[in-house]
Amino acid sequence: MTQSAAPESTSTTYRLEPATELTGSIKVPGDKSMSHRSIMFGAIAEGVTEVAGFLEGEDSLHTLAACQAMGVRIERGGPGEVTLFGEGARSLKPPGKDIYLGNSGTGMRLLAGLLAGLNIPATLTGDASLSARPMRRIVDPLSQMGASIVTGKGGTPPLVIRPAATLAGIEYTCPMASAQVKSAILLAGLHASGTTVVHEPAITRDHTERMLRGFGVEVEVAGLTVSLKGGQRLVATTLTVPGDISSSAFFLVGASMTPGSSLNINGVGMNPSRTGVIDILKLMGADIQVLNERTSGGEPVADLKVTGRRLQGIHVPEHLVSLAIDEFPALFVAAVGATGQTVVTGAEELRVKETDRIQVMTDGLRALGADLSDRPDGAVINGCRLAGGTADSCGDHRTAMAFAMASLIADGPISVLDCDNVNTSFPGFARLAGSTGLHIVESPAGSTSSRV
Ligand code: S3P
Repeated sequence: MTQSAAPESTSTTYRLEPATELTGSIKVPGDKSMSHRSIMFGAIAEGVTEVAGFLEGEDSLHTLAACQAMGVRIERGGPGEVTLFGEGARSLKPPGKDIYLGNSGTGMRLLAGLLAGLNIPATLTGDASLSARPMRRIVDPLSQMGASIVTGKGGTPPLVIRPAATLAGIEYTCPMASAQVKSAILLAGLHASGTTVVHEPAITRDHTERMLRGFGVEVEVAGLTVSLKGGQRLVATTLTVPGDISSSAFFLVGASMTPGSSLNINGVGMNPSRTGVIDILKLMGADIQVLNERTSGGEPVADLKVTGRRLQGIHVPEHLVSLAIDEFPALFVAAVGATGQTVVTGAEELRVKETDRIQVMTDGLRALGADLSDRPDGAVINGCRLAGGTADSCGDHRTAMAFAMASLIADGPISVLDCDNVNTSFPGFARLAGSTGLHIVESPAGSTSSRV
């Protein structure tokens, strides 16, 4: 066999040898959704907001920098500690330059709603992935409220928010289950006249509603309808962001599907709009115990104890899809590790995440030796051992971490390409995963690798 030098890699590659189980006791970084919101809400509140457990990942740091660019004084303390010196929403100033939000759909969509409501002209930009994501889903309702927002061709970023008259509250029925759309409308509604009402087709994460209440805002929730009155002011508060259940998901899957595993994940956010991954894994036969349940900052938190077992394939109930929407890359790996067939339906939103996650997971797992096929709204996945090989994450943090967990059900080495964006949500993932039993090495960007 001849060895030829591969082109210089422009993003981190994970190299994994087969592993058999995950053990130990870990804590994952802070919840990404809550971290974004803690900064945005602290920035428009009156008084000093203290945040602990903030996710120091690229996505939430872009939101922090955006608020600083609009004149908010924000200080970073020890790890995860942020202090915001809020002077009220009307103190925010137009940023002197474009606001770059990197890979973050949450950052862009929520800020667009907030700035449109405050009538702050700004241009919001992102990386190649974010620049391809659909924005009409927020621009349409915000325009109905009176906002003036121009998108790029095809309804994608950049978003140019132009001066407009004061917005007026609307009653809006979301065509898709999206917490980002709901939140963008509510944040615009905070500074609109009258009442803003959003009806959702399914339950989505309710961190905006809960955290706004923590900042003293009255938010009404009745079933799938949420409403708030415009003109309310936020009062500074103190809050602790729990561990991100979406980051825990990789470890929940890795440990659940491997007999011999025994893993504790401590301090995990257990908001019922986010715990679908636990319900789905339990339906597959997983042994996950929820211990030390408590509440922190208006959000439920618990420690999770996972004992590995052989999982069985299931048809994932569609009502659980929106409650586990970010966990499907990991759940696809659980399905490969399970006995029998798993069917995912009603999950077409996966196609408009940081990547088309149905496509990227299908292609990557097939390259590793899996037997699966995609459908417009999901996939059909047959359980089997993986041979190993190379899976391209296509720059998506969650597909990268999911493919890393596939090394627990593989007989040969796995390379996962394009892993830099793991830093958007889970800095330190490879080190933490290595401490629990994955045999993972990071080849940093710029290093050359050899191909056989
Ligand atoms: C998020 C909502 C979800 C999720 C994303 C974070 C949020 O997106 O996928 O990672 O913080 O509101 P959608 O609203 O597009 O479903």
